[in-house]
Amino acid sequence: MNEPEAALVAIRFAGNLAALLLWGASCFVSLLVPAPLRDRVWEEIRIWRFGSLLTIAAAALLALPVSAAIVGGRWLDAADPSVLAAVALETSAGTAWLWQAASAFFLLVASLVLPAKLRLPLTALFSAGLLLSLTLTGHAVMKAGAALVLHQANDLLHVLAGGFWIGALVPVLALLRHLATPETHDGARVALSRFSLVGHGAVALVLASGLVNTVLILGGLPTDWSIPYQRLLSAKIVVVVMMIAAALFNRYYLVPRLGRSGSAARALTAGTIFELVGATVVVGLVAWFGTLDPLP
Ligand code: HEM
Repeated sequence: MNEPEAALVAIRFAGNLAALLLWGASCFVSLLVPAPLRDRVWEEIRIWRFGSLLTIAAAALLALPVSAAIVGGRWLDAADPSVLAAVALETSAGTAWLWQAASAFFLLVASLVLPAKLRLPLTALFSAGLLLSLTLTGHAVMKAGAALVLHQANDLLHVLAGGFWIGALVPVLALLRHLATPETHDGARVALSRFSLVGHGAVALVLASGLVNTVLILGGLPTDWSIPYQRLLSAKIVVVVMMIAAALFNRYYLVPRLGRSGSAARALTAGTIFELVGATVVVGLVAWFGTLDPLP
């Protein structure tokens, strides 16, 4: 991997992680957190939100010049208008970038300028638009006809379900703090039990769509570990299994003990942070192996 290619992997990692978190957090808070707590929780996670928005803006600004440096074979091409125009207008990476840049622009406008009432639902809408741009590149677009549409639809389902799971964990951390306050306890409890219900569905969808993705790309499971793509995909699956184990432990061991001991609440916070760290590793791995050849 040369320097511009490594830079693109880093940009994909940071931009994708930010878009997944923003999508999951905004979707969960707008649909599943009861009204009295909704704005409060959204406000409490503002550092995450602004960090994600900044990262998304930087990723959208940098992705095109770095792609131009990859196509042109040298860093100088990152600032060459003719190479930039050719990449933007004549390649599938360019189409994905145009979509990414437009979604990032509308997302920034929605999050920073529009009235508070519109901010939450439009943040969810435009961050979903950003995730859609992922389906316009990578191994999904190497097919044609119905197979292409099927693969892209599955990819979209995969990132929306995965993003919902990991992004919701950020407001969940804020809600866990509200359990300790009598005034907000009931609302937090309702939101957390809704997350638990919908979260089971999201995890099942991530697993099913991830499996379909794997079979569509490899024609089977990643068993040939001499190929870096299959090794890294296997590592990703191991990390996801660890995240699922943590989620099940949180839900079925710690949640029933919540009222009885303060240590259960602390352990639940630690378990949620563990899932978020796992999610960061997963997104890092996919940003990397998504650029490699899956088969010999
Ligand atoms: C926390 C759970 C997961 C998250 C957040 C996640 C996230 C992602 C993301 C962001 C992509 C990139 C999509 C793109 O660029 O088009 C992706 C692709 C993929 N994921 Fe996952 N994923 C998860 C679980 C899984 C699981 C369990 C499997 C396998 C059983 C899997 C298999 C794949 C495959 C094969 C790809 C395609 C990579 C390529 O284009 O070569 N994922 N995932």
